[in-house]
Amino acid sequence: MIQIRLPRLRSRINALAGFGALPGGGVTRPAWSPSHEQARAWLLAELRQTGLEAWVDAAGNVFGALGARACASDTPVILTGSHIDTVPEGGILDGALGVLAGLECLQTIREAGAPRRHPLAVAAWTDEEGRYGSLFGSRAFCGNLDVARIPEMAAVDGERLVEAMSRAGFDALRAGEAQAPPGSVAAYVELHIEQGPRLEEAGIAIGVVEAIVGVRRSRVVFTGQADHAGTTPMERRRDAFLAAADFALQARDLVIARGGGRSVTNFGVVHVHPGASNIVPGRAELVHEMRDPEPDVLDRLAAECAALAQRVARERRIEVEVRPMSATKPARCSPRVQAAIEEACGTLGLKWQRLSSAAGHDAQNLTLITEAGMIFIPSQGGRSHRVDEMSDWEAIEHGANALLHSLLALAN
Ligand code: GLV
Ligand code: MN
Ligand code: MN
Repeated sequence: MIQIRLPRLRSRINALAGFGALPGGGVTRPAWSPSHEQARAWLLAELRQTGLEAWVDAAGNVFGALGARACASDTPVILTGSHIDTVPEGGILDGALGVLAGLECLQTIREAGAPRRHPLAVAAWTDEEGRYGSLFGSRAFCGNLDVARIPEMAAVDGERLVEAMSRAGFDALRAGEAQAPPGSVAAYVELHIEQGPRLEEAGIAIGVVEAIVGVRRSRVVFTGQADHAGTTPMERRRDAFLAAADFALQARDLVIARGGGRSVTNFGVVHVHPGASNIVPGRAELVHEMRDPEPDVLDRLAAECAALAQRVARERRIEVEVRPMSATKPARCSPRVQAAIEEACGTLGLKWQRLSSAAGHDAQNLTLITEAGMIFIPSQGGRSHRVDEMSDWEAIEHGANALLHSLLALAN
């Protein structure tokens, strides 16, 4: 039975972790940043040295292929992949694992001369973490990108996507050209860390993902009145930050009380203007995120939170505007891909369980154009989106071998 080579995979994971590495561990490698562009160049060189055909599309997605020169309708590929961008102060495996394990699988298959009916390819999708727009590269590839919105897409610090891509040598307005020809992908399977505690606590090597959550983000902007923080009587203040804080606390309670049981919410970005201790905040901006596996639940919660924001603003005599930023659709994974993963686990003697993903993934876009699924491996302590995110090397080896045998099953 063919197997991946863990020392080679480990050395690539450690090499990629060097791009954007933080002194205390972990990595900050946002899409289109200099460290991301260096990582892209490194990845392209690795793909080529391995003997794979490598290219970059108009959305900045990187591909390496075995038996294909492009994604084309007449030679449908079995595709794997994930992303090499990270959240700020993130870990070394979120995304990197799926890309480098994919490369390792293709290299192993090439060396073994394993028979296959389909070409195979690995992708590194651009801006999965949504610095400028959630799942940007896979959206473009799957024809799920609102091209008209590209000029207004911007990071929370205000930097526009158009400028960030131009700095990296790409024309954002052409990102739609990355759309894959119909029928060019026969199946997609992505390996990822679980990012939560369920597999580790159950002592199970492999998670077979059944469904992926939808994520909604909106910018909620409260506008009150900037005033002197010493001389303005308390009852006359129209403090935008306190309104935002009141809204955040009430929105949390609303999502728990009125959500679908698995609904979660977060306020991960807060900007207060003008931002001086001796000025009552005149404006406060929040990025409000909500997640749920059911689109209807997200629709309802979004409407109720918008009404809540209006109520809080009215009570505090200030204005509020809720601007939708992004919405990814919840997705169901393909039964055929799930069966291929379970069969691979059987071959390898690995225990598996089905689970749903509360994190967003590029695979949810791929479900729009092909049979797509995901393999999860346990995360140490369930930790992710933090610098100490890690999985045991043995778990990584199991996951990469499960990916290898799933790809082979799907390719034959
Ligand atoms: C992707 O990491 C997400 O935000 O779920
Ligand atoms: Mn992530
Ligand atoms: Mn990820």
